[in-house]
Amino acid sequence: MEVATESMEVKNGNSSEPVDDRCSDNDFGPSILGTKEYWEEAYQKELETFTDIGDVGEIWFGEESMSRVLRWMDKAKIPENASILDIGTGNGAFLVELAKHGYRNLTGIDYSPASVELSKNVLQAEDLTDVPVKELDFLNCQGELKGFDVCIDKGTFDAISLNPDNSVEGKKLYVQALKDALKDKGFFAVTSCNWTKEQLLDRFSEGFEFVQDLPSPSFQFGGKTGNSVTALIFKRVH
Ligand SMILES: C[S@@+](CC[C@H](N)C(=O)[O-])C[C@H]1O[C@@H](n2cnc3c(N)ncnc32)[C@H](O)[C@@H]1O
Repeated sequence: MEVATESMEVKNGNSSEPVDDRCSDNDFGPSILGTKEYWEEAYQKELETFTDIGDVGEIWFGEESMSRVLRWMDKAKIPENASILDIGTGNGAFLVELAKHGYRNLTGIDYSPASVELSKNVLQAEDLTDVPVKELDFLNCQGELKGFDVCIDKGTFDAISLNPDNSVEGKKLYVQALKDALKDKGFFAVTSCNWTKEQLLDRFSEGFEFVQDLPSPSFQFGGKTGNSVTALIFKRVH
C-alpha cells in the first residue's frame, strides 16, 4: 500500500510535482487530475498491481485522513446503521476502514470503471462483498443518490475543481448533487488539499451549516503557517 501523505509527490501527467505546488490555496489551474481519463488510467494500473501483489495503491492524504474522519464520526455518535456515501471512492480503502469500524450501510461511487473494479476487488479481499460500489458520475447522477446520512469526500471535489473543460459548472453541479444526496441534517465530511477552510465555507454556504474543522497537520513556509489539507464537517440544512 502506498501511503500518500501530506508531503507526497503526486503524479501529474508527465511530471511529478510536490503536493504543495499542486495544492496551492488560491490559484490553481486546470490539470490532468481533473479528467476521467487520468483516473481511469491510474486505477487501471492500480488494479493490475492489486491483482499481482495485493497492494491497494495510493491512500490519498495518508491513513490519518481516514482516521480523523472516523474519530469525528465516533464523537458525533454517527450510528453504525447510518447510510454513508463515499463520493469518488477510488480504491475503496475508506469503505474498508468504515466497514472495519462497524458501519454497515455503505455505498461507494466513482465514475472510473477501473476504480469500481479495483474497489470491488479490494472489498472482496476483506470479505466485504455486501458493500455496493457503483459506476456513477456524481455530477450527473439524476436523482439516483438520495437520503444519505453522511457523505464523505476525500479528494474528489479537488479533482472536479481541476477539470480543464468546465470546472466552474462542475463545482456548481457538485454542490447541487450533494444537496440532493444528503438527508436534511445529514453530514458532509470533506477533505481537500486545494481549498482553504474559507473557500470551502464560501462554496458550501447555501444549504449547509458549518459544524467544525478537523485538526490536520500544519507546516511552516516562508514564515507563514498553513495546513496541507483541510478537513471540514458541514450539516445539510434547508
Ligand atoms: C484524488 S482521487 C480520491 C479517491 C479516494 N476518495 C481516496 O481518497 O483515495 C479522486 C477520485 O474522484 C473520482 N472522481 C472524479 N470526478 C468524479 C465524478 N464526477 N464522479 C465520480 N467520481 C469522480 C476519481 O475517479 C477518483 O477516484
